Amino acid sequence: MAFNRLKVSSAKATKLDIAMKHGSYGVRIAQLVATFLIVFTVGACLLSTHAGGSTQASSRASREAGAMVFHNKGCEHCHGPSGLGTEKGPDLSTVGKRWKKPRIEHQIIAGGNGMPAFGEALQPDEVKSLVEFLSAKRKALKQTQQAREVQ
Ligand code: HEC
Repeated sequence: MAFNRLKVSSAKATKLDIAMKHGSYGVRIAQLVATFLIVFTVGACLLSTHAGGSTQASSRASREAGAMVFHNKGCEHCHGPSGLGTEKGPDLSTVGKRWKKPRIEHQIIAGGNGMPAFGEALQPDEVKSLVEFLSAKRKALKQTQQAREVQ
């Protein structure tokens, strides 16, 4: 009687043992796959945000540099603060929508029709950042925004 019970329980134990071994093997594979997926996804995310972030940051830096050049090199004298235009020069607030970069660049370098040529006065990287700055100007600002920006 007692011997019988022992046998049963030991048989159960072996089954349980096997089940556990199988189970833990499966779990280990699942863990490996999961770890791989997580590492892979996180890595891909990091890479893509890093790449995206740096391009964004560099073009934003370029646009900001362009805004400084616009301010410092006398563009505002005719085109007004924020490029909104004066009687001496047209509004540039939608120039990026109307003109492609090479045309904007050409206008800055060669001038014409009342605008001086800036090819000699500006460094190539200043021209480049001006082009980035102006080509991002695609939307006419709303009246209230204009008022705020001019102040
Ligand atoms: C002396 C006044 C004057 C200055 C200074 C000046 N511009 Fe102009 N700009 C003009 C005039 C006038 C036009 C219009 C030319 C035309 O109609 O062909 C113009 C046109 C432009 C255009 C084309 C806009 C369009 O939609 O037709 C761009 C871009 C531009 N200027 C950028 C600049 C930048 C950048 C600077 C500074 C580096 C600058 N301008 C300085 C007078 C000026």
